Amino acid sequence: MNAFSRLTTAVSLAYLLPLVAHAGEVEVLHWWTSGGEKRAADTLQQLVEEKGHSWKDFAVAGGGGEAAMTVLKTRAVSGKPPAAAQIKGPDIQEWGELGLLTDLNGVAEQQGWDELLPEQVARVMKYEGDYVAVPVNVHRVNWLWINPQVFAEAGATAPTTLDEFFAAAEKLKAAGFIPLAHGGQPWQDSTVFEDLVFSVLGAEGFHKAFVEQDEATLTGPKMVEAFAALKRLRGYIDANAAGRDWNAATGLVINGKAGMQVMGDWAKSEWSAAGKVAGKDYQCLPFPGTQGSFAYNIDSLAMFRLSDEDNRKAQADLAETVMSPQFQAFFNLNKGSIPVRLDQDMSAFDACAQSSMADFKEAAGNGGLQPSLAHGMAASSYVQGAVFDVVTNFFNDPQGDPQRAAQQLAAAIKAVQ
Ligand code: BGC
Repeated sequence: MNAFSRLTTAVSLAYLLPLVAHAGEVEVLHWWTSGGEKRAADTLQQLVEEKGHSWKDFAVAGGGGEAAMTVLKTRAVSGKPPAAAQIKGPDIQEWGELGLLTDLNGVAEQQGWDELLPEQVARVMKYEGDYVAVPVNVHRVNWLWINPQVFAEAGATAPTTLDEFFAAAEKLKAAGFIPLAHGGQPWQDSTVFEDLVFSVLGAEGFHKAFVEQDEATLTGPKMVEAFAALKRLRGYIDANAAGRDWNAATGLVINGKAGMQVMGDWAKSEWSAAGKVAGKDYQCLPFPGTQGSFAYNIDSLAMFRLSDEDNRKAQADLAETVMSPQFQAFFNLNKGSIPVRLDQDMSAFDACAQSSMADFKEAAGNGGLQPSLAHGMAASSYVQGAVFDVVTNFFNDPQGDPQRAAQQLAAAIKAVQ
């Protein structure tokens, strides 16, 4: 061993020792299992391991996270919750009420979360004034992804209104492409539906319907119009859509079999993983009719009470890592979302992320910033489930009547309020 390597070994050992002394394990439940999502999740694992802790991956496949939530409940009931779990929106309050979450106020204070986070975000992460979850990112749900080469071949134009959307779909169909890549799973059906609601009812109507759950809005003529648009849209998906995973649908647009996909910006993780470039190989457009508005979906890790001290330290380090500028850049560049820190340097991000950030800030000031219902931000998981049932039944029923569906939507929500 020469003098230089002796020195570097000594330096790295000295660096590792204090960490090893507090090495703990963090078990993290999430559903980031598609190729692109996994690349993002791996960045977190890597940074946690660099702090000397071990990572226990608790990945439960299933887009939208319904399966993951079911598994989490089973684990919690048996008294063995993981250290951290991806729990979002109002559900964080429910877990807080059960008394199972730990407070992260120490880390939050040290890193200044109150100053770094938008107020709306900080509020969701707290239970009775204490931070119990750390926000990972901000996803936007109202996006339309298009393959410009397919559009050019079909002579279709990128749509900005719903009429233009259907005109483009018609052209794509005539040219032999799948107009809209879709996966027939309840959460995907409702993702498309909520974008239609946003487009047809506007931000105020969206809020009244999904946040206030106002009966007159839920059953009103605009909601009927949104269901009618969903029915029309169904005419442009392919016969094999049933049960298809969202990332397989993205794959159809990437490989040029389909022209468009309506999906949140985690879809971008698949484009990035395939080495495609925003603005060149694909385009991200606000869902037609929702320009300047923003349906947000914030991923967050809620932290459970642990007894082992080393594991508690590992948990606090995990929270600190998630809020670090380094993680916020690495993870979100791979995940398709934007960072949650207001002070984040955005220069490394692509055109889609830049416009997402600009729209996020603009929408926050004009009422256009609305919580996604399909992704658990607007209402409890019970209301979300009720909406999924009505929307998916309607979507799969060739005889489905938009007027009746709107009535059923209001009744189903009322039954679980
Ligand atoms: C989550 C995303 C995830 C997507 C697909 C959403 O509900 O917020 O993080 O990528 O589901 O699984």
